[in-house]
Amino acid sequence: MFAFNFNKITMPIFYGKAALIEFIHSVKSSDSTIGFVPTMGALHQGHLSLMQQSLAENTHTVVSIFVNPTQFNNPEDLEKYPRTLEKDTQKIFELNPNIMVYAPSVNDIYEGKVVSQSFDFDGLENQMEGKFRPGHFNGVGTIVKRLFEIVSPTNAYFGQKDFQQLQIVKKMVSKNHLDVTIIGCEIYREANGLAMSSRNERLSDSEREQAAIIYQTLLQAKEKFKTSSCKAVKQWVKEVFDANTNFDLEYFEIADEETLIPCDEKIKDKNYRAFIAIFVNNIRLIDTISLK
Ligand code: PAF
Repeated sequence: MFAFNFNKITMPIFYGKAALIEFIHSVKSSDSTIGFVPTMGALHQGHLSLMQQSLAENTHTVVSIFVNPTQFNNPEDLEKYPRTLEKDTQKIFELNPNIMVYAPSVNDIYEGKVVSQSFDFDGLENQMEGKFRPGHFNGVGTIVKRLFEIVSPTNAYFGQKDFQQLQIVKKMVSKNHLDVTIIGCEIYREANGLAMSSRNERLSDSEREQAAIIYQTLLQAKEKFKTSSCKAVKQWVKEVFDANTNFDLEYFEIADEETLIPCDEKIKDKNYRAFIAIFVNNIRLIDTISLK
């Protein structure tokens, strides 16, 4: 274990799983709970809000910081993904120095074999992100399962911005009978509505401002969905972005929240959600909104 020191206060940071497992074992008792927030670093207020929720609901909190290579289908995206470990540990320290930070190497996780396990998520993996990012969810399933084995959390916290990921993690937990409760947390947004994301760091100030259109469009789509068909709403969103040359729409989809199957005809009593993925100057952003 290494410790992050500040004004004689120390925060435990683990670079290897053996020491983390031993430390968790030493602090865990029969009535304690471990809250876990898995991240890929470049922490923003959205991540910190997950940690706050975990701190409020558990006796101990573990945060992992690991840019997982197997979930990137685009090598340039992996290479450019921001890595800011020092700043991240400072932010966690300021939030609460009792949080345990796990920042492993690729080898500590993959032990020489950087490959994904193959999962069956009952079709959740074939929609939206799964269509455009082949292999992505096998990578997510692999790392999340591995981290759960190491941390043995009672509760694990995931942001709803990655709603498909959240459903996939829930499915993985139920299919593998893992003893962990998955908690989906509200999307944290910047003042202009842009969903917080580590990728926002790569946007220029003006791109960040313009990207407000993503959430504004989702809000309007939600309004239109009250009186229009799925097809009409999808066509309207397509036209919005066809008319805006600063954005390259990858997909806009309306799908059943449970199965993620795209909506063709609206079915009464089903909960629908809109999903969007869009490029701004080669930077890929996603967002989602409940249409209920
Ligand atoms: O959402 C993320 O940041 C990642 O997909 C996760 C869950 C930390 C797995 O690498």
